[in-house]
Amino acid sequence: MEQKGIKKWDILENILIEKLVFGGKGFARLKHENEDLDWRVIFVTWWAIPGTIANLRVLKKKKSFLDTQIVDIVKKSDIEIEHPTNKYGMSWGWKWINIPYEEQLKIKEQQVKEALNIVEQKQANLPFLPIERSPTVDWYRNKVEFSFWKFLSARFWIEEHFNLGFHKQGEFSKIQDMEGCPLIDELQNEIYREFKTFTKTLGLPVYDSMRWEWFFRHLMIRRTHFADEMMLLFSFNPHYFDTNTKLDKEEKLWLIKEFLIKLADKYTVIKSIYFSHNPNKADVCIGDLELIYWEPTIKENLQWLSFNISPTSFFQTNSTWAEKLYSMVLNYAHKDDLKNQTVLDLYGWTWTIWMVFANAWAKNVISVELVTSASKDWEKNAKLNNLDNISFVNAKVEDFLDKYLKDWKKADLLIIDPARAWMHPDALPNILKFNTKQIIYVSCNPTTLARDLWYILDNSDYKIEKIQAMDMFPHTHHIETIVSLIK
Ligand SMILES: C[S@@+](CC[C@H](N)C(=O)[O-])C[C@H]1O[C@@H](n2cnc3c(N)ncnc32)[C@H](O)[C@@H]1O
Repeated sequence: MEQKGIKKWDILENILIEKLVFGGKGFARLKHENEDLDWRVIFVTWWAIPGTIANLRVLKKKKSFLDTQIVDIVKKSDIEIEHPTNKYGMSWGWKWINIPYEEQLKIKEQQVKEALNIVEQKQANLPFLPIERSPTVDWYRNKVEFSFWKFLSARFWIEEHFNLGFHKQGEFSKIQDMEGCPLIDELQNEIYREFKTFTKTLGLPVYDSMRWEWFFRHLMIRRTHFADEMMLLFSFNPHYFDTNTKLDKEEKLWLIKEFLIKLADKYTVIKSIYFSHNPNKADVCIGDLELIYWEPTIKENLQWLSFNISPTSFFQTNSTWAEKLYSMVLNYAHKDDLKNQTVLDLYGWTWTIWMVFANAWAKNVISVELVTSASKDWEKNAKLNNLDNISFVNAKVEDFLDKYLKDWKKADLLIIDPARAWMHPDALPNILKFNTKQIIYVSCNPTTLARDLWYILDNSDYKIEKIQAMDMFPHTHHIETIVSLIK
């Protein structure tokens, strides 16, 4: 129905934000004298906190809803807090930081229940367990990548020629200097500050990614939680000196190297430092890697397993949460006969869930993953942990299942952890053909989870044994859900 009387850029006054919906947008209802418009759904992007009364600008007018953005807060929400350690303001990386953690959990739990509501038509009284909190709420990221950038804006009178921070989401050309970040600990923030202060003194320009020229590009900091080891990686454009021949490349690089090594003397947790000679046009920090200090990898320990992490390794960014998730998946599994069972870990990503099962004495664990680089180091890590009951298949799950079933091969337990967007429609019917006693489904998207659970319940005699939401990334809208399906 056409929303007469409301145009793009109009301001809607005194709107109460009722709740947050999956994806993190605020949800409100319009009160309007025109009965066609009255009660129309309003979505609110950016920093919406339930209970806030705000003036909203209309960004998009759709048939059944309005997309808006907050322009002023008329009344703060009663639940809004100032986060005690966040000195840096709001950012996309920690959008929910001013919502108390207990409230964040309630919101996430509610979102999963709402998304799965439809599945109740197939199985009444779904067995929801209370949401599982993240073991660490602040400073939980074990990896962060800062970018060097300049930011000039005639409109906002901003002329910053040198900065290190995060790209502003939705406005890539801007960098936000956060003076650090509340999702990493104080030592990581201190290293960020010291490196930024030092690099400013060198008289070299930050890289311009529109023109692919100039020098400073990225600083990556990785700090493992359980083993407590840190890796630094500094990325720069090596071609800068080709056109600026008056500068002594070796001398400049030597100054940076000396600074970083002194940093490692000061903070002994630093075990590995790399230069990344990075001429890539894409905004990635990995180029030609040169180890300039000590170990090529750092260690992390999860669930009685050790992992060596290189600069290019994929690894869950919240180690405490990863350990919890993997132990929960293992606990969910009916393991009476695991030592005689073949476990298929579909959408395996890096080398974790499947190694946890291999370590728990499954007869055989096969992980299937599309991206080769994601599981690049699996053999080394398997060796490190003396695991010889695993294998990795680099393939699309949908193709793999087809072939595996045609070869009459069997599996006894399925673990499915698809990417946010979707699972290929060919995969689900094949998953059901295994007829395993149990399927454990880990999902980062309750909406696609609802669709897949509906399909499974509609086309088989599986029942949902338990469902549990988990908070993986506090202060963000991300939610993880684990579901056990049994025959
Ligand atoms: C949510 S992650 C899996 C996380 C992992 N199970 C863990 O232990 O943390 C989803 C993975 O699915 C992979 N993927 C996406 N589409 C795929 C496909 N069609 N076949 C196989 N893997 C796929 C992605 O590359 C990604 O690594």
